Order: sequence, then C-alpha cells, then structure tokens
Amino acid sequence: MASIAQPLSFPSTPPEGYPALEREPVFDAAKHLALKTPRVVTRLDAMGYSGAEIAACPTDLGITSCFRILSDEGVACLQDVARALSPYARAAGDRVPRMVRGGVYQSKFLRDFCMAPELTEAISGLCGAPMLPHTMPHQLGHLNYNPLEIGKNVDKWHVDTLRVDFVLFVTDPNLLDGGEFEYFHGTAAEVRALREAGEELPVDKVRQAEIPGAGYGVLQQGNMVVHRAKGVREAGERITLVNGYVPADMSYPDYTRFDQLAVVDPDHVAASEYARHIAWMGRESLAGDVESIGFGTDRAAYAERLERVAALLSTAAGALRGAKAEGMDHFGD
Ligand SMILES: [Fe+2]
Repeated sequence: MASIAQPLSFPSTPPEGYPALEREPVFDAAKHLALKTPRVVTRLDAMGYSGAEIAACPTDLGITSCFRILSDEGVACLQDVARALSPYARAAGDRVPRMVRGGVYQSKFLRDFCMAPELTEAISGLCGAPMLPHTMPHQLGHLNYNPLEIGKNVDKWHVDTLRVDFVLFVTDPNLLDGGEFEYFHGTAAEVRALREAGEELPVDKVRQAEIPGAGYGVLQQGNMVVHRAKGVREAGERITLVNGYVPADMSYPDYTRFDQLAVVDPDHVAASEYARHIAWMGRESLAGDVESIGFGTDRAAYAERLERVAALLSTAAGALRGAKAEGMDHFGD
C-alpha cells in the first residue's frame, strides 16, 4: 500500500560557508508566479521506454514543451538574486564549468520560490502524481551560469541525479547566440550504447526546446531523459535554474546518486543532506506502515514491508561509507 509522505521542513540553520544575501526581494507567489500549462507533454513510452521501466517511475512524464513559470516581475527578481549569488559559482567536476548549488540556504527568495506550494501543486498536476520539493536543499534551485570560455558547453549530455526537475530560463536565451537546451528523443540505454560504440547521437532524435523567453521552463523526468545545454557562441549572460522534486509516494525507491553528489557538493553538506533525506524517507515509509498494518496472518507480507525500509537504510549507509569522489558520469559533449 502506498505511503504518502509529509513534507520535510527546511533545515533551521544553514551549513557553514553559505552566508545569507544582504539585500534581496521578498517572494510573493501572487506577483511572481505566472504558471501556465505546457502545450506538449512527451511521455516515456513515446521515447522508447518499456512498460516495466515506466512502472518503476513515479510518473510516465518524459519532458514537456516550454511553459511559463514566472511573471516578468518574478524574472527580474530572480535575475537579481542569481546575479547576487554568482560570486559563489564554482565548477561541478568536469561536467558543469560554472554553477551555484545550495543558493536556497543563502537566499530566502530562492528558497520560497523553489518550495512554493502553488508551484509544487502545478508540478504534481503535470506529473499526475504527488511531488514534494526535494528534501536535499542542494537539489533545489541549482543555478547554471554560462562558462566564461566562449563555445564551451554549459553542461554535457547527461541524466540527472534526481527524478523530476524543471529547467527554468532565468535569462532570455534568445538574446544570445548559442546556449540551446537539447534532449534526446530516445532512451538513456540507447545513448550509452551509441557512445560506447564511439558514435554521435543521431540528429533526427536530438530535439531543441523552443523557449519563448525568460521565465519559461521545461519539466522533465531528469533521470530518464538525456539532455544537455550547449555553449554560448558569443560573450553574454545565460543563467538557468534547475529545481528538483521527490515523489511523495514512498513506494518508489530512492533515486539519489550520492556517489555523484559527493563529487559536486562540499563534504560538510553532501553526506548530511543525504542522511537526513534517507532518514525522512524511512520515517515516512514506517509512518505509512504504522497506519496501515492491520490484523492478519500474512507474515511474509509484513516481513517484506519491514525489509523494504531496512534495505533503503542499509543501501544508503553503504553509499555513505563506500562513495569515492571519482568524477561525474556523463555522455560527453
Ligand atoms: Fe540536467
């Protein structure tokens, strides 16, 4: 039986090294959000995923066309916040040259936007399943900035370390030559096989998101849809925001790649955020069991429920002990 989790509260104190912005706008959902519905939703089956693969996912959504998320005023405020955070930008392994993670600790505007109930409700509606803002703050409001080197890709072909996220265009990419957001209309296994054979991705399966302007974004099941952001071909500002979600239904296994996060995020944050996330999943799963286990004789069924939580905890503990910072998985440029 499905256990629907209660949200996890945001940590009451930030980790060391994440100073709060001195001046920033106050987020107001009524003024700053301008949520619209995407015209097109591409499902995983249309991309070639099997019924069994889709059944293991919290939603059958692959990727949407670009839809409006922020009002013009919301865009202006988020641009101010993103620029104020840009001095904190760093590289993520060899994959992303310039990004900020954990900005939600530094900016209340960013945090309130990324965790806005109106936004979460819209994302859940598009997924056809209840979603919650990601319980690991570094998976919220991730900001990518254009590399300072012209032509260098903003991000290589990859799948995400989380399930569901949207990519929001904070600046208008049409004002710049380059910086296209592309995704592969196929499966991750196809990309892996092509790359192993030393082949390029077939151009007829590479799709480019049409972006009307700043404040628009695409929602994707990021661990299933292979995507990348190309380099800018002239000097200029390109900023995108990636906001992550976790399924509220605890029957879906965790999809955090701690080995990857350990490469990208500081030591004093990555493990603790992950441990807290797993502890929350365990608690919420058990809370569902406490509520729903009735009288009966099916010992095996009860054992399975307990074993599921035990496996969640021990797998995560193994990842915490065993993860080596070996670099980030990607499928190249
Ligand atoms: Fe991504």
